[in-house]
Amino acid sequence: MLREVSLRLSSTPTPVWIWSLTEGLHRDGEAAQPGTQSPRAALDFIAASKDAAIFHLKDFHEPLRESPDTRRRLRDLYESCRDQRKFIVISSPVRSIPEEVERSLLYLELRPPDLVELVDFLRDELAEHTPAPGAAPDSSDANLQQLAHSLLGLTLDEARYALRRGLAASPTLGPEAIPALLEEKRLLVNRSGTVEFIAEGGSMGNIGGLETLKKWLTERRKLFQMRDTLSADIAPKGLLMMGIPGCGKSLSVKAIASYFNLPLYRIDMIEIFSGRHGKPEGAFVAACKMLEDMAPAVLWFDEIEMGITSTESSGEQGRIFAFFLTWMQEKSRGLFVAATANRIDLLPAEMIRKGRFDEVFFVDLPLDDERLEIFKIHLDRRGADAARFNLAQLTEFTIGWTGAEIEQCVVSALTKAKLADREIADDDLLSVAVSIVPLSRTMKEQINHIRSWAFERAIRASPRQGGQW
Ligand SMILES: Nc1ncnc2c1ncn2[C@@H]1O[C@H](COP(=O)(O)OP(=O)(O)OP(=O)(O)O)[C@@H](O)[C@H]1O
Ligand SMILES: [Mg+2]
Repeated sequence: MLREVSLRLSSTPTPVWIWSLTEGLHRDGEAAQPGTQSPRAALDFIAASKDAAIFHLKDFHEPLRESPDTRRRLRDLYESCRDQRKFIVISSPVRSIPEEVERSLLYLELRPPDLVELVDFLRDELAEHTPAPGAAPDSSDANLQQLAHSLLGLTLDEARYALRRGLAASPTLGPEAIPALLEEKRLLVNRSGTVEFIAEGGSMGNIGGLETLKKWLTERRKLFQMRDTLSADIAPKGLLMMGIPGCGKSLSVKAIASYFNLPLYRIDMIEIFSGRHGKPEGAFVAACKMLEDMAPAVLWFDEIEMGITSTESSGEQGRIFAFFLTWMQEKSRGLFVAATANRIDLLPAEMIRKGRFDEVFFVDLPLDDERLEIFKIHLDRRGADAARFNLAQLTEFTIGWTGAEIEQCVVSALTKAKLADREIADDDLLSVAVSIVPLSRTMKEQINHIRSWAFERAIRASPRQGGQW
């Protein structure tokens, strides 16, 4: 970047000098000036130099941090370089700016490369690559765009590893290479410890019921694809889903990601608050920032009430909450947030207020026909043809059941049949069904509390049916 700037500063190119602790100060492409290895000597050299130049000091944060002498010298230089066409640029992998010099410098943060840069990078890399006979990589624009998308968020070095991995998996860099590229990203993201890349997808077809939610998502997907042309208040931001445990919140989030055709990242609030990744506030901000570079993506804040509750609105939690609200307004348009919560009564009112999320859904216990649909899905998924069963007779036995309980019933019935070495039949489902005591019965109070609370604050994820569950 500095080389490029040096060509444009004036009519003749401005020389670029580079300093590092190991090599001392040297002009780009020339040998080092003797005796300029120490930070102090380098600054003295710059002070004595008469000509216009850009001085790039690598990792200079360290000498600045360590030595008051160096800090003072740099401040002197600031005075003497001004209007002399001498520019000092300090580069560093960490943010560390001594207080004394803070106001005398311009701070720039370089983020990982964007799509345009990644496409250029891929083109350059592939030009240098010697393909195996008969297996030239597909370097069409469309393919490079696709590959670049899956590299978003990686640095150029990381992108290079990922590309090699991809070439090993598929020498032509076809669609089969994408999972290999994403693997590199998974490793990078998981290294953070607070964010997890979720590879397993889901599909809308695996969700029984929740028709209102599904219809809403169909519309949102369309808007999301048009997001760059929409005004800020229409561009989709995300949804908050709350509801009874085991009724399909997590399932839905996974389905959203595949339906939107986007990668899914899960932010682990428990990890963030564990203290294992520094102060929770810093860990949360760092996670959000990292994810900005991954856009477009679906971000899943699971059990968001763990981190953001109204019981403790002051201090650390309060600050995280405030940050989250602002971030929701300002985040990149390519990020669609899916937050899920069980204990909705713990969430602060501002969180639920319209405008933060596009919609707040309440996922209730499935209705009669929804339960039958969930039975069908789980039977079919396990290779038992649902059409063979008389599922309607299960309706009254399964009132108040969650989706997870239905799944459990199917699995138990299948196991029973398998042990008896026969095909699963209606009776297996029935006999298991009568023995299951649903959560909604054992935890009646809690469930009623959640429902009455949600009643006024959220819209139901499935269409209501005359007062029944
Ligand atoms: N509507 C549904 N359709 C199909 N399967 C469902 C449905 N709801 C729940 N299930 C089954 O139950 C399992 C558990 O559901 P899921 O993990 O989505 O619940 P959750 O609402 O996220 O619960 P928790 O609050 O405990 O996280 C799912 O993996 C799925 O197999
Ligand atoms: Mg869940």
